[in-house]
Amino acid sequence: MSEITLGQQIDDYIEQLFNPADPILTETLKELERAGLPPINVSANEGKLLYLLASLSGAKKILEIGTLAGYSAIWLGRALPSDGKLVTLEIDPKHVEVSRLNFVRAGLADKIEVRVGPGQQTLAQMVEANEGPFDLFFIDADKDGYPAYLEYALKLSHPGSVILADNLIRNGKVMEANSPDVYVQAIRTFNQTIATHPRLESLILPIVRNNFDGLSISIVR
Ligand code: SAH
Ligand code: DHB
Ligand code: MG
Repeated sequence: MSEITLGQQIDDYIEQLFNPADPILTETLKELERAGLPPINVSANEGKLLYLLASLSGAKKILEIGTLAGYSAIWLGRALPSDGKLVTLEIDPKHVEVSRLNFVRAGLADKIEVRVGPGQQTLAQMVEANEGPFDLFFIDADKDGYPAYLEYALKLSHPGSVILADNLIRNGKVMEANSPDVYVQAIRTFNQTIATHPRLESLILPIVRNNFDGLSISIVR
């Protein structure tokens, strides 16, 4: 048995135990598929982890970068208190449209605001308009933008804010120092930065599904 088969089985085992059928999340992924969006949402178990992290940090204001069909935003949105708010940034108008319908179905349309446009442009406007601070960030859009997204998150943060970022291991590809892959190089820069940044304490948690990936957890000091 290959390690990854075992990894998939472990992920399935955990999902069966802790993520019983959830009609809203199931329908969200059906809509993603129906609309022909890429199936690159977080897994159910990673979604549950996002929900737990947002809950235990007590986040009231969350900023997500990379909406897709809204799957991860629904997990995060469910952790918000009644007066909480999540802003999620998405470049593709089709993804925005699918996600908005999913937020309505999830009963979260009043708490989740989707903003369409290139993430870095929207973030620059948010800094300009003094829209911070946010209590929790989830970075999950274009991988070459991660180093810039981190800088914007820091600008929109307060001491104690939590910064999360997905896809930091890429099935081990990030361990190749001389990789010609620009995405790998951007993620390597991101990982090095969160590991050594004077304002951050961080760790990457390996995430196992059909391959190996990783989620970072950072706290802003
Ligand atoms: N967080 C989602 C998955 C996001 S997939 C979930 O787990 O459910 C990455 C998303 O980032 C895609 O929808 C893609 O269109 C979007 N994206 C890519 N480049 C972007 C950019 N420059 N600015 C904002 N969003 C971007
Ligand atoms: C990709 C993007 C993601 O955010 C993800 O979780 C998995 C894959 C991708 O662009 O391939
Ligand atoms: Mg991702």
